[in-house]
Amino acid sequence: MKYAVITGASKGLGEAIAKRLINEQIAIISVSRTENEEIRGLAIAKGIDYTHYSCNLSLETEIQEVFMEIAHSIFQKNPNEILLFNNAGVIDPIQTVGNLDQTPIIRNIQVNLIAPILITNLFFSKAQVTNTKVLVINITSGAAVRSIEGWSVYCSAKAGLNMFTQTAAIEQAELKTTNKIIAFSPGVMDTSMQETIRSSSENAFKELEKFKELKEKSLLLQAEVVANSLVDLILSDEMESGQIYRINDLLN
Ligand SMILES: NC(=O)c1ccc[n+]([C@@H]2O[C@H](COP(=O)([O-])OP(=O)(O)OC[C@H]3O[C@@H](n4cnc5c(N)ncnc54)[C@H](OP(=O)(O)O)[C@@H]3O)[C@@H](O)[C@H]2O)c1
Repeated sequence: MKYAVITGASKGLGEAIAKRLINEQIAIISVSRTENEEIRGLAIAKGIDYTHYSCNLSLETEIQEVFMEIAHSIFQKNPNEILLFNNAGVIDPIQTVGNLDQTPIIRNIQVNLIAPILITNLFFSKAQVTNTKVLVINITSGAAVRSIEGWSVYCSAKAGLNMFTQTAAIEQAELKTTNKIIAFSPGVMDTSMQETIRSSSENAFKELEKFKELKEKSLLLQAEVVANSLVDLILSDEMESGQIYRINDLLN
């Protein structure tokens, strides 16, 4: 039996990944602050094992508590493989440096960077003692490698996530484990994160008009298309640990 743990499965890319994996008969553990009832319904209809855990990933204590419980429950079932999608993300604060508020800065780094590090660390540690294969998929962004004015915190968190991915991959290779860890850059998708971006101010975000145009001209990718390409890569077993994959490379 394969299990997939997906953070941020309540909407956007996480929701699309969960739906595709249910159709692939993979058991789902969903983690976010709110639950998506459609996913629960789909899992029940297809007879797939599904559990939702409510967790605020900006709070370290909640992460520790919830993920200890998740790890305890799935590793003891001796799964063939665990897929861990560190997908939950936040774009805020959108603001220039010097005008940022402290709380959203900390929340952004907690959700986008610290949570994936804590969860991956816990899962690799459990994998060592149970001999379970863990595949970690960290959802990154083009903003990890391109400086975007107004997005300094988001760019920094995603750049950190790329480096964490590459470093952990080298370590796993050195240890000769079967675990793999990749990052995946999904491109610009038509999700609620883009709504947040379009509702920011031009003073805070220089590229605002460009992003509004992407929506007006229907140039945003659909989350389902992105999720399908990512899941195809994972299920093909061709994913190379330490790689930072980009959606455009998979679609072409
Ligand atoms: N959309 C894009 O154009 C784009 C581009 C590049 C990269 N990405 C990356 O793709 C990933 C998915 O983004 P998306 O566009 O699908 O975003 P989205 O539609 O805004 O969904 C974000 C998800 O993250 C969860 N989340 C946010 N804050 C959380 C918190 N404090 N605790 C727990 N869960 C939290 C949300 O769940 P709840 O609200 O229910 O908690 C939601 O399920 C992110 O990592 C994002 O950085 C997106």
